[in-house]
Amino acid sequence: MTQFCIDVKNLNKYFANNHVVKDFSIQVAKGEIYGFLGPNGSGKTTSIRMMCGLITPDSGHGECLGMDIFTQRENIKKRIGYMTQHFSMWGNLSIRENLLFIARLHNLAQRQHRVEQTLAGLGLSSRQHQLARELSGGWKQRMALAACLLHQPDLLFLDEPTAGVDPKARREFWQTLHRLSDEGISIMVSTHYMDEAERCHKVAYLSNGQLLANGTIESIIQAQHLTTVRIRGRELSVLESRLQHFPVVEQTVIFGNALYVTAQDEKQLLTTLSQVISDEYERVKVATNLEDAFTWLMKKHDD
Ligand SMILES: Nc1ncnc2c1ncn2[C@@H]1O[C@H](COP(=O)(O)OP(=O)(O)OP(=O)(O)O)[C@@H](O)[C@H]1O
Ligand SMILES: [Mg+2]
Repeated sequence: MTQFCIDVKNLNKYFANNHVVKDFSIQVAKGEIYGFLGPNGSGKTTSIRMMCGLITPDSGHGECLGMDIFTQRENIKKRIGYMTQHFSMWGNLSIRENLLFIARLHNLAQRQHRVEQTLAGLGLSSRQHQLARELSGGWKQRMALAACLLHQPDLLFLDEPTAGVDPKARREFWQTLHRLSDEGISIMVSTHYMDEAERCHKVAYLSNGQLLANGTIESIIQAQHLTTVRIRGRELSVLESRLQHFPVVEQTVIFGNALYVTAQDEKQLLTTLSQVISDEYERVKVATNLEDAFTWLMKKHDD
């Protein structure tokens, strides 16, 4: 087996004439939590399904857990867990009954024991008799994760597992993901939440089927060579509109009481700001964050 649990190169996928994934290449190390981001329709789900052998790429090659994604799809399925974007459980069954049913579908040995273990591992034992349809979003998603883990996979594909789940439940879910990663399970997880991206060891950013960035968060931010200045004062949206007319200003965003202005040319940005805004505005250079970097990448790509 190679050192990577996912190692794919130049995967392409067309739906009719629509080229939805373009030369997608990625390497994921064992135990790594890899975040997968990008706008709606950018090709995340399609890429995930190609990596785990659920759909066939039109070209390219690669391995998942050391097995060929074209020819060893049935074997791959046995070693991975896949939580689909719109997963569903049997609402009329309890958590426990759902898991037992899935364990039977997988034809697992010692089903009762595996279900007990998994319930305990995910803190579900006390709720095991509750009907799936009565669970809140956070518990449903925990049950779905349990279902993916029953057969003790080496690699998890989680497609937007926390969409619509409250912050506390998301935090607990991510604690579980980090524990699984410590145990050596590799995780590829798609999300639209920046705070979740920042919890990953590495992230990949897809736009319009193309991988625009890939690596650690620090390396992605650094590679964009951006400077961000935080401005505080009154009528920030008026100031924002004014600043947007200056070519040096690449992007602006208001968060609460502050306006963030990002540029590539730091010197020119600072000169422009000192000419345009009065001293009553507080100005501080701050670290460019991942969202700024992604927004910039999208803009550059669109141009
Ligand atoms: N089975 C299919 N048949 C035809 N087109 C498809 C199919 N699946 C996906 N597409 C198209 O491929 C593109 C990529 O879709 P995909 O679901 O992979 O994006 P995504 O990044 O997962 O989006 P989201 O964030 O909304 O989940 C979209 O334009 C979508 O309409
Ligand atoms: Mg999707």
